[in-house]
Amino acid sequence: NTPITVAMLGCGTVGGQVARLLHEQADDLTARIGRPIRLTGIAVRRPHRHPEIDPELLTTDAEALVDSGVDLIVEVIGGIEPARSLLLRALKSGTSVVTANKALLAEHGPELHAAADSSGADLYFEAAVAGAIPLLRPLRESLAGDRISRVMGIVNGTTNYVLSAMDASGSGYAETLDEAGRLGYAEADPTADVDGFDAAAKAAILASSAFHTRVRAEDVHREGISGLSAADVAAAQLLGRTVKLLAICERVVDQSGAESVSVRVHPAMIPRAHPLASVGGAFNAVFVEAEAAGQLMFYGQGAGGAQTASAVLGDVVAVARNRVAGGYGPRESAYARLPVRPMGET
Ligand code: HSE
Repeated sequence: NTPITVAMLGCGTVGGQVARLLHEQADDLTARIGRPIRLTGIAVRRPHRHPEIDPELLTTDAEALVDSGVDLIVEVIGGIEPARSLLLRALKSGTSVVTANKALLAEHGPELHAAADSSGADLYFEAAVAGAIPLLRPLRESLAGDRISRVMGIVNGTTNYVLSAMDASGSGYAETLDEAGRLGYAEADPTADVDGFDAAAKAAILASSAFHTRVRAEDVHREGISGLSAADVAAAQLLGRTVKLLAICERVVDQSGAESVSVRVHPAMIPRAHPLASVGGAFNAVFVEAEAAGQLMFYGQGAGGAQTASAVLGDVVAVARNRVAGGYGPRESAYARLPVRPMGET
């Protein structure tokens, strides 16, 4: 029973959990896939920082690992380079990729999909948006026979923690963010979160998956939460509303009947009765409206090593099953391209 071979690029918070789960769940994974999965190597910058990993697996030569002829590369390095070059190299040579890299997909998704399509490799990326929540595969696959009109959600845990705390305590933005930092809910540099860059990257990936088109982070209208005051939150409360940072991806039809996609991230006052209003703390939730399915909501933990690793492992199983069956996952090149509505016209 020939193993499906997997090499991993990076071994941080998520990668460490992926390696652990591949080891601990080995028997179950073999039963579910029909063939065992073998982790053949892990590329890291500083091997001595990974005493928990079998030293025989560790290498500093990521390119050689990509070229080693494995069935699948798992990328959990994050950032644009060297991840972009390594994944293009893998995909062009027909090696399938599972990645958790939201920044890379939001900026270079079209290039990666084109490389995958040209060689017949699979490209799966469930972990790139909303951590543990199964969201991209439901949008790309389960709802592929339906017509999605809107995807709207809370996709950044840090800002949701801050806004929920402001709503509960009546305190101001700056002191709440400081407190979130002290408690470990906000990064030392929270710019990407509070200015909406993280949510905009996720919105681009969500819109691309939901509307089977290509949206990049730069196409997303973006406004963060740093301009919000305690008075704004209090005003929302007087109106029976609460403030949430929303990512909103919509199918828009103009007067001539032409369709396009509008994608934006901004704080919004939502009625307290709306399901998204009760999403508190660092949780994520995404509300989907589709023509036949109606309203759906996806809810769960949008960050964390084990949570994100769960999504990565699900993708590893999907790619491995494709290999066993001799098939492959969704091909982006077959998609119709809805144009993206320029910023300012939303
Ligand atoms: N900084 C992100 C958040 C982590 O707060 O949601 C998950 O991408």
